[in-house]
Amino acid sequence: MARELNIAVVGATGAVGAAMLSILAERGFADATIHALASERSLGKTVDFGQRSLAVDVLDDFDFETVDFALFSAGANTSLQHVPRASAAGCIVIDNTSAFRLDEEIPLVVPEVNGDLLEDVPAGAVISNPNCSTIQMLMAIAPIHAIAGIDRINVATYQSVSGAGQKGMEELAQQTMARLSFKDVEPSAFAQPIAFNAIPVIDTMQDNEYTREEMKLHWETRKILRDERIGVNATAVRVPVFFGHSEAVHLETREDVGMDEVRAALSRAPGLELVGDEDPANQVTAVTHAAGKDAVYVSRLRRDHSHPRGINLWVVGDNVRKGAALNAVQIMEAVALTKKMSLET
Ligand code: A2P
Repeated sequence: MARELNIAVVGATGAVGAAMLSILAERGFADATIHALASERSLGKTVDFGQRSLAVDVLDDFDFETVDFALFSAGANTSLQHVPRASAAGCIVIDNTSAFRLDEEIPLVVPEVNGDLLEDVPAGAVISNPNCSTIQMLMAIAPIHAIAGIDRINVATYQSVSGAGQKGMEELAQQTMARLSFKDVEPSAFAQPIAFNAIPVIDTMQDNEYTREEMKLHWETRKILRDERIGVNATAVRVPVFFGHSEAVHLETREDVGMDEVRAALSRAPGLELVGDEDPANQVTAVTHAAGKDAVYVSRLRRDHSHPRGINLWVVGDNVRKGAALNAVQIMEAVALTKKMSLET
């Protein structure tokens, strides 16, 4: 009988780490050996894992020798420092940070889109999990790219504060309470007040006047679709929503394609739910559809009246689940299956 998987979750006390643990428990890994790792600030803490409570271990002192898979979500600097030694120990690393995403040697994977890269993954391999905004956009546009090609994409994102981790969620809660009590707020996790506001800057500014978050959509889309001809023109905006990113996507296909064909392609795409209802009350939103769910949802699908090959769509997804933790766990499951490692616990 195949032995059970041995899994390390790095960043287990954070928002994504907690989601990784609950998704692992939900998806049948409840009896697996799980190492919950964080910084020494978390020494003495415990985290929930299904019905169990796990003591948090310190990453700096942890030996990856016995570990099959390490899921990293503790920031790019932590990954740059510790992923090489986990990999050298033979552990397969799935890294949720931006540290290695654009490295040519390292696959950047959304399993529903380019899961073919997960065959024959060797021991010690590193696989990158894309940015949350990229994952949900790719889930929605890859089926269109497959039938008609895509020339360019204009996208505006409306990104929830959980994308900035626990501190982002605490800041929105505190500022909301302060504002409702007519008190001033002091921004800290975000550069400007987030409660009752929309901030058009996520991540650092680049020399080309885009933010890094916006350029990630461009760079990562090209890499995942293996298509250097696509251009992505993004504006990434932080909004006062706790869970779930929304995206207004405007794209131009390379070839002519009818909307019926587009609708059919989206309807059969795995992990994607197309809601074609015209009732305003039934449009998909981050809060009513995406938060806490695994699927990515699309509505407002329509022809761009200003361009013969233009298509508009509205895409929502849970940034912490499919945008991060779930995608990482799906990558792990796919690799374990192709390597015939035990998925039964
Ligand atoms: P800790 O709680 O010990 O600081 P979030 O993005 O939700 O804020 O979570 C970040 C996660 O990354 C937390 O689990 C945090 O652990 C972890 N982390 C941050 N820096 C390090 C580090 N240097 N070593 C290990 N874990 C880290």
